[in-house]
Amino acid sequence: MSIPASAKQEIAELRQQLNYHNRLYYTLDAPEIPDSDYDALFDRLVKLESEYDAVSPDSPTQRVGDKPLSQFEQVTHKLPMLSLDKVFGEGDLRDFEKRMHKRLGSDEELEYSCEPKVDGVAVSLLYSDGVLERAATRGDGLIGEDITHNVRTIHSIPLRLDGKNLTGLLEIRGEIFLGKDGFARLNKWAEAESGKIFVNPRNTAAGAVRQLDPRKASRIPLKMVCYSVGMMEGITLPNRLSEIFEQLNAWGLPVNADRSTETGIAGCLNYCLALQEKRNTLDYEIDGAVIKLNDLVTQQQLGQNARTPRWAMAYKFPAEEKTTRVLDVEFQVGRTGTITPVARLDPVFVGGVTVSNTTLHNMDELGRLGLRIGDTVVVRRAGDVIPKVVRVLHPEKNANPKAVQMPNTCPACGAAVEKDGDVLYRCSAGIICPAQRKESIKHFASRTAMDIEGLGEKLVEQLVDGGLVSSVDGIFDLTAEQLSNLDRMGKKSAENLISAIEKSKQTTLPKFLFALGIREVGEATAQSLVEHYGDLQLIMEATAEQHEQVTDIGPIVAHHIATFFNNNDNKVLINKLIDHGLHLSKVEAHKAKPLQGQVWVLTGTLEAMPRNEAKALLIEQGAKVAGSVSKNTHYVVAGPGAGSKRTKAEELGITIIDEEAFLNTIKGLGTKIP
Ligand code: IVH
Repeated sequence: MSIPASAKQEIAELRQQLNYHNRLYYTLDAPEIPDSDYDALFDRLVKLESEYDAVSPDSPTQRVGDKPLSQFEQVTHKLPMLSLDKVFGEGDLRDFEKRMHKRLGSDEELEYSCEPKVDGVAVSLLYSDGVLERAATRGDGLIGEDITHNVRTIHSIPLRLDGKNLTGLLEIRGEIFLGKDGFARLNKWAEAESGKIFVNPRNTAAGAVRQLDPRKASRIPLKMVCYSVGMMEGITLPNRLSEIFEQLNAWGLPVNADRSTETGIAGCLNYCLALQEKRNTLDYEIDGAVIKLNDLVTQQQLGQNARTPRWAMAYKFPAEEKTTRVLDVEFQVGRTGTITPVARLDPVFVGGVTVSNTTLHNMDELGRLGLRIGDTVVVRRAGDVIPKVVRVLHPEKNANPKAVQMPNTCPACGAAVEKDGDVLYRCSAGIICPAQRKESIKHFASRTAMDIEGLGEKLVEQLVDGGLVSSVDGIFDLTAEQLSNLDRMGKKSAENLISAIEKSKQTTLPKFLFALGIREVGEATAQSLVEHYGDLQLIMEATAEQHEQVTDIGPIVAHHIATFFNNNDNKVLINKLIDHGLHLSKVEAHKAKPLQGQVWVLTGTLEAMPRNEAKALLIEQGAKVAGSVSKNTHYVVAGPGAGSKRTKAEELGITIIDEEAFLNTIKGLGTKIP
C-alpha cells in the first residue's frame, strides 16, 4: 500500500518522539511528559502503522513479539567475548600496572577507564546500519545463544541508533541487569500473584534473558549498560574508551553514569574505594570495579591471554560483613526429610539484601560456631551467595543465653527424629510428613523444574493443608472448580493455573528428573544423566556402578539415584505421572551441534593430547578441521612452535587461541577430555 507523504512523515516523527521519551523514562529516569501523553503518542503510532501497513521491526511499537520460540539458535560471536582476571586488593592492583609497564617497556603514566562491575549477564548486540539485528549471550565466549526476542523488550536498548550515516556493522558488549528497584517491584508483584518470589536480581535477569517466550521476559524490568565494543565494520570510533562511551551515549545507548577516567593506579584505587563506599546507595548490584586501559592502541599492544585481556582487571570487593542478634533458632524440614537449624535474625542489611533468617546447615556447624539464642553474630554475604553466620561475637555478653537442641520429634508431623550419618537428622515419617510433601511439591512446580506458573509456596501450602494434593501427581488431577473454591482464588486465576499445569506437561527429560527431587541430583546432574543414557527407562534400570560412569557423578550420588529408582513407590509415582500425559523431550537430540559450520585449524605442538584426538573432539562438536588457513577459517589453535599457519592467520585477522583456551572451549561444550 502506498503511504501518503503526510502519514509517512507523522509516523517518522512519532517514532522519533517515542524513542526520545523512552530514553528519558527508562535510561535517564527523567520523564518530561506524563504517561498518559506517552500512551496517546504510542496509540496514534499503532493506529497509523496498522492503517498504512507500515510496521517496521525497529519501530517502538515492535518491542514484544507474540510468539514463543521453540529453541534457542546458536550464535558465533564475530569477536570472542572475553572474561576478566580479578584482584582482591591494592597490592595485586599495583602488580597489574607493573606487569603492563614491563610489557610496554615504559613507565609512562597510564590513563584508565574505571567502571562498576555490574552483577548481571553479559550480552553482545549487533547493530547493522544502525538497526539492532541480533543479541546474544556470552555462552563460552566463542558461541552464545540468540536472545534477540528478549533483548528487544528492554526499553533502554535502542532498536535503532540515533545517528546519521551509520552504515556498517557494530558489535556492542555490555551487561543486562535488574536494578534493585525493579527487583523489589517485581517481587511485590510476584508475591501477590503466585506467592513465589525471585531469589536475587542476577539470577532473575539470567532467567529472563533465557526465556523462550518474549512476553514473559518483557515482564521483568531489565536494564543494560554498555562496557565495550566488539567487531566494527565500516564504522569508526574514537581511540579512547572514555570517548567511545560518549559516542555510544550520543547514539542513545545506555552507558554507566558511575564510570570515571582516572590517571595512574592510585587514581583507580581511589575510584574503587569510593565505589565500595557508595555500593549500597547504587540502584544496581555490583561485585566490584573494572579497571581498563583507556587507550585502545595500547590495549592492542598488550593483547590478551587465553580468555582475558592483559589491559583490564576486575577489582573485587571483599564480602560484606555485619553484626546482628540471633532471635531464635528454628528447625526446618526439607523435601527429603532432613531437619536443618535455621537462625532467625534481627533483620540486617548486608551485601545488598536484608537478611532475617539464614540456614545454619547442621548441628555440627552450630557446635563449631558455639552459637546460642541471644548471641551477637557476624553475618557475611558475598555476591549472590546465601548469607552465612561466620562467628559469634563476645559470647560472654549474652545475658540470657539459650542453648539450641535438636528436637526429638519432627516439627512438622511429630514423628520421631532419627540420626542419619554423623551430622544429619531426619524425620522418620517419610513422604507422609506434610512438610516433606509440601517441599517436594514446591520443588516439583518450581521454575527450574516443571515450571508450573502460578503454583507458588502459599498455594502449595493451601493445597496440601486442604487435602487437595498429597503427592506431586495429584497436581494433574486438580480441577478449575476445586481451585476456585480456595481463598483468594478467582475463576480466571483457577483457569490460568489449570492451563499452566497442562502446559507444564510438555517438558524435557532433564527438567523432569530434576523435578523428582532425587537426593543431590541438581539440574546439571540431571542433564548429565540424560546425555549419558538418553532415555528414562535406561536411567531407571541402571545400577549404582553404571551411574558412576556418568560425567561428574561419584559413588554417593550414584547410590542416591539407584536407591530412588529401586523404590517401588517411586516407580509407581513415575508411571502415574507419565500416564497423565507428560511429554519428556530430550532437547539435545534436536540441537544443532555447537560448532556446526565452523572451520578450525590445528597447528604447533599440543601438549594435552595428540593432534588426531583434538581433531576428533572438534568433529564431534560439528566443526570441520582443515589442514591450512584461509579466509574461511574461524579459529586457529596454535601450540608452541606454530609457524607459517599462525602468521597467515594473523595476516587474515583470524582468531588464534592457545591450547588452554581450546580445551576450555571443548570442556565448556560438555565433552569429556580423554
Ligand atoms: S569488561 C574485555 N566491564 O564481568 C573485557 N565486564 O568477570 C570484558 N562485567 O563477562 C569485560 N561489568 O559480563 C566489563 N564494566 C564492566 C563489567 C563487566 C560487569 C561482567 C562481564 C564479564 C564479567 C567478567
